[in-house]
Amino acid sequence: MGVDPAILPTPIAKRVIDPHAYAEWDTLLDTFDKIREDSPVAKIVPEEEGLFEPFWLITRYDDVMRISKDNAAFLNNPKPVVFSFNKAIEFSRAATGSNMLVDSLVVFDAPIHPKYRKLTQDWFMPRNLARIEGEVRELAHRTADRMIERGPELDFVKEVAGPYPLRVVMQILGVPPEDEPRMQMLTQQLFGGQDADLSGTGMDDMTPEQVVQLVAGAVTTFEDYFAALAEQRRANPTDDVASVIANATVDGKPLPPRDMAGYYIIVATAGHDTTSASTAGAMQALASDPEQFARVKADRSLLPGIVEEAIRWTSPVQHFMRTAADDVEIGGQQIKAGDWMMINYVAANHDPAQFENPRRFDAARSPNRHLAFGAGAHQCLGLHLARMEMRLLFEALLDRIETVEPAGEAKRATSTFVGGLKSLPLRITSA
Ligand code: HEM
Repeated sequence: MGVDPAILPTPIAKRVIDPHAYAEWDTLLDTFDKIREDSPVAKIVPEEEGLFEPFWLITRYDDVMRISKDNAAFLNNPKPVVFSFNKAIEFSRAATGSNMLVDSLVVFDAPIHPKYRKLTQDWFMPRNLARIEGEVRELAHRTADRMIERGPELDFVKEVAGPYPLRVVMQILGVPPEDEPRMQMLTQQLFGGQDADLSGTGMDDMTPEQVVQLVAGAVTTFEDYFAALAEQRRANPTDDVASVIANATVDGKPLPPRDMAGYYIIVATAGHDTTSASTAGAMQALASDPEQFARVKADRSLLPGIVEEAIRWTSPVQHFMRTAADDVEIGGQQIKAGDWMMINYVAANHDPAQFENPRRFDAARSPNRHLAFGAGAHQCLGLHLARMEMRLLFEALLDRIETVEPAGEAKRATSTFVGGLKSLPLRITSA
């Protein structure tokens, strides 16, 4: 029996599913470039049978776009939406009856998904966000002031890129500042459970069982916390998004407790480590290119372009998974109904067929139709908020910083799902 040419050789496949490979960005991009060139729709099978379900890795921009937009042909359910080991899926099924520990917008398909999405869609549109712009700007200025106080040498992730988006999301959810460290730890356990520094365990090589137990513990704590918050918002509604979720009805009925908790958890978690990663990436790019920094400092109309390019360049959500509803052909490969697929945003956003010189941070890149927010029915609900937050923060930072340069080695998280810088040492002088 010959070897199926669509199957990626094990050493390369391992790099796609190994969280440690995601800490080495340039090597990771080399890997994706090679895969995209040799076999843009490639099958990944486990070395050891039963470790995980085989899946198709999709690396070309056009293919990721096509799959993202066709939500009838490529489903978020029933297989997990994030790459998972079989042990993790079994654990989740035993604990909750579902393949995913949290059921939320990202897990649902039509007809449920649009009903749930509609509940908060308007809240996240620019017209409504304008109401909170003043508050977010104030927070951005306070963050910039604190950064200057901590300078001239500081870890930008610890002092700025980490805490600022966390506070914004917690503010819209009505979570008081004293509960933030707990929320931050829980999110990192949920998203970056594999990273020894971020998970709070100090354990570097956790088994899939250990990771999933950590994640399950985080989910239970989140659920209890948000159940109490929802009760408060039902008794005393405000105009925050927490109140919208607490008082929402679907088909005339309030959300079941698990769905309500899932809604809070997705907003609480999706909104900050992602924005932190793009914020840190933007600053890293500017710090290593004084000419580009000087240009944007002098001309703030360049900011929206910088924000967009930072989001593409960092692609903090590194992949999502889909399941084929029917047999379908993609990139010359026959995909069968039920096959699991990884749409890889890092690879798609570095596809040279779509982006000239994709590894270059180009503030003037135009057009910049990146896929970092996804596309189609599940496209990021918080994309306007993320853009607004980053723009307001950089307006404040550019007012306060005269010069900025790297002051040590930047480090990336080890995570296959949400990734980015976990430390960015900088030296700044104030304006
Ligand atoms: C979904 C990326 C910020 C809330 C997504 C998806 C991606 C993504 C790739 C999945 C899209 C798809 O399947 O097509 C990002 C990035 C961000 C960011 C890169 C920052 C730079 C935020 C913020 C919030 C948020 C600030 C809210 C506070 C959500 C929610 C979903 C989502 C609720 C699920 C939407 C659905 O399934 O209908 N995001 N996101 N995100 N994001 Fe974001």
